[in-house]
Amino acid sequence: MKVALKVYRYNPEKDDKPHYEKYELELRDDAVVLDALNEIKWSFDGSLSYRRSCRHGICGSCAVKMNGKNVLACKTPLKEAIESFGDVLTIEPLNTKKEKVIKDLVTDKKDFWDKNKKVKPFLIANIDEHPEKENLIKPEQVEELEEADYCISCGCCYDACGSVSANNDFLGPQALAKTYRFTADSRDNAKEERLDFVNKLGIGVWDCIKCQACIEVCPKGVDPFTKITHLHNQIFEENIAKKNVATKHSEGFVHSIKKHGILDEGMLVLYSEGVNVVRHLPEAIAMMKKGKITFPWNMPKSEGIEEIKKLIEISQTNDLKG
Ligand code: FES
Repeated sequence: MKVALKVYRYNPEKDDKPHYEKYELELRDDAVVLDALNEIKWSFDGSLSYRRSCRHGICGSCAVKMNGKNVLACKTPLKEAIESFGDVLTIEPLNTKKEKVIKDLVTDKKDFWDKNKKVKPFLIANIDEHPEKENLIKPEQVEELEEADYCISCGCCYDACGSVSANNDFLGPQALAKTYRFTADSRDNAKEERLDFVNKLGIGVWDCIKCQACIEVCPKGVDPFTKITHLHNQIFEENIAKKNVATKHSEGFVHSIKKHGILDEGMLVLYSEGVNVVRHLPEAIAMMKKGKITFPWNMPKSEGIEEIKKLIEISQTNDLKG
């Protein structure tokens, strides 16, 4: 199989700026992206730098960006990639910002690992360090955390996350999915402490912008976005949620659906921000002119509103702490 690759090259010690180099390779039909990188390094240019270790989708080190999508190089068949993206595949580091690139496809992942460390991604439990038998949990308890447990910390979700790119303090989908991995584990004794940490505004679950890019790129099917949603629920269930813009936003959402059966975008902002809503007045006027929001008394009601109200009442969880 003939393959053409355009590879991002940048050596900060020599180059003023990054550039792309094109390689034409002859590879087996079942080759993966990592095979192509190995072929370039071993047969064309030994200076090409990239990370890899296990070649089995376990270590998470070979994550790269291929034609704009974050993938594991060792799990991405070239044939399928060519079918999806065309004859020339562009391979870049997960983050192409010059200051993040150590060399070629190798990026500095310090902030990613620092955040991973902050959420204490290990079991905190009073368990005998030298047990005579295994500490078993029930199959249904394992199901709760199974998907989250598949995370290999490759960073594909972290570098695709819209919230991380806008706010570098945000813990990111990987660290939050790891948090859920342990808050959902019946053996863990630090659930409250963990939820308290990810409840913090500016860094935690309330700063997820719900772009869902993490679901799209996760090569292991972890679905970090849904784990973040589970954390929201746990925060309410454990009475850890405090009144703030984010939690009031959630309450406002429920209030609006209960009242109209559909979302009243204008009132949602008022509900979340209270008197601070005045700072959004110019946007509100512009939205009103385009018919995107209306006055509360003009809001239509959904068909079956009574049924919607009942469904919300049945499913509603705890109220917020003051
Ligand atoms: S080399 Fe280990 S996940 Fe790809």
